[in-house]
Amino acid sequence: MNTSTQFPGSAEDAEREALRYAACLPGEEILFPEGRWVQQPSLYRSALQALRSEIEIIRQEWKSDEGFSPIEHIKTRIKEPDSILDKLSRLGVKPTLDHTIERIHDLAGMRIVFAFVTDIYLLLDRIDRHPNLQILWTKDYIMNPKPNGYRSLHAELSVPVMFAGRLCHVRVEVQMRTLAMDFWASLEHILLYKYDRRVPDHLVRELSSAAGAAGELDHKMLALRSEVLSLSDEDEQ
Ligand code: GTP
Ligand code: MG
Repeated sequence: MNTSTQFPGSAEDAEREALRYAACLPGEEILFPEGRWVQQPSLYRSALQALRSEIEIIRQEWKSDEGFSPIEHIKTRIKEPDSILDKLSRLGVKPTLDHTIERIHDLAGMRIVFAFVTDIYLLLDRIDRHPNLQILWTKDYIMNPKPNGYRSLHAELSVPVMFAGRLCHVRVEVQMRTLAMDFWASLEHILLYKYDRRVPDHLVRELSSAAGAAGELDHKMLALRSEVLSLSDEDEQ
C-alpha cells in the first residue's frame, strides 16, 4: 500500500482551475457568494462518479461470485463552502485557494455502508489491487475507535480523471462503515450538532457505551452470518 501523499503538478493545477471557477475567485481569496458553490467543481464531481462506477463494478462482480452484495449503500458529497471556511479557520490559515488545496483533502467524499464489518476489509483489499485506484493512506477507527466510540475505516484514494484534456489524479476521502456504525455516527452527529459540541460528560459516556453496543451488534451479526452460511453448506451436501 502506497503511503505517499504527493501528487503530480498537473492534478493540483486542475484542482486550482476547477476551484477558481466554482468558488468565484477574483484573485486568491475564496468568495463563495451566499455561502454556496457558484457551480460544484466538476473535477470532484467527475472523480466521485468515476470512483462510484469502479465500486459498482466490484459490487456486481462480488454479487455474481458470492451471491450477495456486501454494500448496502453509497453516498457522495462535495464539501460545502461553510465547512471549507470553518476548517480553514480551525487550521488557522487564510481562506485562499492554495490553502484549500494544500490543507483540505476531503473536498470530495464518499461514504460506503456495509452490512458486515469483515466486508469492509475485503473491499479495501480489492481497491488496493485495483489497477486504476491508489490508496494514499488509511485511518482505521474500527481497530482503533476514537475516544468517543466513533468507528469507521477512512481511506484517501487517488482517482484518475480526464479533466480539461489531461489525466488528473484526484483525492477522494472514503469512509467505510457498517449499518450499525453509521446509525451511531448519524445520531451522534445530530446530538452534537444540537448541543453545539458542548456535551455534558455523562452524555459522552453514554454515547461511548452506545458505540460499544453497536460494535457488539456487528460481532453478533457476523457470528449469525457464519452460522447461516454453515447451515446452507450442510443443506448443499
Ligand atoms: P475533519 O476536519 O472533519 O475532516 O476531521 P479530520 O481531518 O481530523 O479527520 P477525521 O478522520 O477525524 O474525520 C473526518 C470525518 O469523519 C468527519 O468529517 C466526520 O464525517 C467523520 N467523523 C470523524 N470523527 C467523528 C465522530 O466522532 N463522530 C461522527 N459522527 N463523525 C465523525
Ligand atoms: Mg478529514
